[in-house]
Amino acid sequence: MNGAASSAQSGCPFHGSAAGRSFDPFGPAYQADPAEALRWSREGEPVFFSEPLGYWVVSRYDDIKAIFRDPILFSPANVLEKITPPSPEAVEVLRRANYGMNRTLVNEDEPAHMARRRVLLDAFTPEALAAHQPMVRDLVRAKLDAIVDRGRSDLVADLLWDVPLTVALQFLGVPPDDMDRLRSFSVAHTVNTWGRPSPEQQVAVAEGVAAFWTYSGEVLARMAARIDAGEHPHGWMYDMIAKNRVMPDIVTDNYLHSMMMAIIVAAHETTALASANMFCRLLEDRAQWDAICADPGLIPAAVEECLRHSGSVVAWRRVATADAQVAGVTIPAGGKILMVTASANHDPRHFDNPDALDIWRDNAADHLTFGYGAHQCMGKNLGRMEMAIMLEEVSRRLPHLQLEDQAFTFLPNTSFRGPEAVWVRWDVALNPKGTRPTRDFPVGAPDRKAIQRQLTVKDARPLAERVLGITLADPRGRPLPAWTAGAHVEIVLPDGEGRRYSLCGQPGGDWQIAVMREDAGRGGSRWMHENARPGMTLAVRGPRNHFRLDEAAPAHILIAGGIGITPILAMADQLKVQGLPYELHYAGRAAEHMAFLDRARTDHGDALHLHIAADGRRADLPALVGQAVPGTRISACGPGRLLDELDRLVAGRPDLTLAFEHFTGGESAGALGQGMPFTAVCTDSGLTLEVPGDRTLLQVLRGAGLDVPSDCEEGLCGSCELAVQSGAIEHRDRVLTAAERAAGDRIITCCSRARGRLVLSI
Ligand code: FES
Repeated sequence: MNGAASSAQSGCPFHGSAAGRSFDPFGPAYQADPAEALRWSREGEPVFFSEPLGYWVVSRYDDIKAIFRDPILFSPANVLEKITPPSPEAVEVLRRANYGMNRTLVNEDEPAHMARRRVLLDAFTPEALAAHQPMVRDLVRAKLDAIVDRGRSDLVADLLWDVPLTVALQFLGVPPDDMDRLRSFSVAHTVNTWGRPSPEQQVAVAEGVAAFWTYSGEVLARMAARIDAGEHPHGWMYDMIAKNRVMPDIVTDNYLHSMMMAIIVAAHETTALASANMFCRLLEDRAQWDAICADPGLIPAAVEECLRHSGSVVAWRRVATADAQVAGVTIPAGGKILMVTASANHDPRHFDNPDALDIWRDNAADHLTFGYGAHQCMGKNLGRMEMAIMLEEVSRRLPHLQLEDQAFTFLPNTSFRGPEAVWVRWDVALNPKGTRPTRDFPVGAPDRKAIQRQLTVKDARPLAERVLGITLADPRGRPLPAWTAGAHVEIVLPDGEGRRYSLCGQPGGDWQIAVMREDAGRGGSRWMHENARPGMTLAVRGPRNHFRLDEAAPAHILIAGGIGITPILAMADQLKVQGLPYELHYAGRAAEHMAFLDRARTDHGDALHLHIAADGRRADLPALVGQAVPGTRISACGPGRLLDELDRLVAGRPDLTLAFEHFTGGESAGALGQGMPFTAVCTDSGLTLEVPGDRTLLQVLRGAGLDVPSDCEEGLCGSCELAVQSGAIEHRDRVLTAAERAAGDRIITCCSRARGRLVLSI
């Protein structure tokens, strides 16, 4: 049996649930909504064997990312395999056409893959792609000029297919002839590779694929003739042909032909479908569409969130090269794997409120729509750029666009998803006379700092001496996204700098923060105390959560010092609701300085331990740590000396875990992150990068086109952490515990550095 082997739990290949065994991605549920169709799997059976498909299906974010991360154990060799075996008649059609699609960048193994990828990567850096922006914008404007006075359009036919295809051809240097034929070829290739054509359709599909193979070979021959004649035309395929002439063992003839065909599809179909999804989602949610029209600065974030929520690539494949463990299940050597990235992108373990479209979500760029690691989509930033320009141009010229009621149709297949038509209408009389100026957005993942909501201060009142409580609400009364205990928001002050405050109300309602006035600080808390009044508007980033509860821990000790009560109280609330064991320790100078004291007493009376210095009751941290039962997770927030002491104490108890959050940093990361040059070797993506003394590791990684999230960029939050395989790290952050530093297996990239050579998992 293909892929049939034992699971770790039972030794029986078919031990899984009936839902898993019978799962068929060509069934109506998956075809209607792949993420929703696998909700049950994300919740309870994240790896299962589908009998109709003959594949192991994986649905959770962390598991899929781990598979992407290891292209040796999980080979991409089956990525372009026909998921439905072809009929003998279809095989014969392809044989007659000498169809020989072989390895391309997406499906070849190491070490050949990285050798080729490195040779071919230069054209895809953010700097190189930025040069294409004027061409893309001109193209989009010309398409819109043709329809703005019509009042009705199928956006797919009039804009969303032609723009990515034209851009792809220009990028490749392929003459823009036969655009309609190329579209039909793309459909045939998709059905052939990822679809389930009926026996009657098989031959027609094979004929389309054969014609595509022949066509791409002819175009390639014409292009090669120009190179051989000494010309140097512009375009990535010309670059590849030139490389074929000097390194034929790496860029082989068959490789050129296979890439020619594969990349014509990859370079435009995914962008066209993703753009169609994007316009549907945003026009369905008028408030978010209007927000973009009012503030185009939100466009890069909106693009990224649409790629997460409704990306065009919903599943990708791998094959296990040896017995492999995924989420406790043994996938046997040879087992084929379908990773449903659409499901990963809706995994609540990684994305709060995953089913909601939220263009202010600032970790949307973590999505797996582009894959991850060595085989991550090379064209991701070209796709992002095209989507941003199309969204910007349409929203400025047709802000009154309305989505028509319609039944969307999709090409049935396992891996690509986007509507075949998107009908919209608008009142031509309301077309804006003068339109806002445009801007070119930086190429790459959106800058988290640009993602800001405008919220209203609903309430501002003292909670304790020098502590101001502030309640934030949506100005139109819409519910704000739910948050989880440990989350914080960042208030952007008039100086443009953000100040972070933990959320401390009830998750799901308005957002509540507490600000302690620090006259010796950077001025943020003073400004808040002097200016925050009900009715005023504040720019707010987040929420983000780098201080999550680990609900799997058998026991919890929560320790708050002073205003550190804000995230800790939210954690206590959550543990109480979930019925999990916890102690809440709250330390302060005097009762009048301690915010939420009454609420802590009321809501957590039995679990609450107060340590009030003015009453002669100080926290005995050595005793607290010494008496903790093995496995306890200690979560702490408070002044640096409290956290430093806890860190030192817990370092002597390796059976405990410590998570903490500092209030503020010291030096800026700019100063923190500088030092001696070193070399960063990125194993997942196959890059070796030099980090000069005046740039941070984070800056260098991003400059190479790698998506690394960040938040504070001060070494405080941990969002930019990467796994380290080897190297001498100079830790400069305030995130990692002493035990984590000693392990030497992670680095905070915004500020920490290394000596010599650092090997990273990215
Ligand atoms: Fe916050 Fe690096 S971005 S620690």
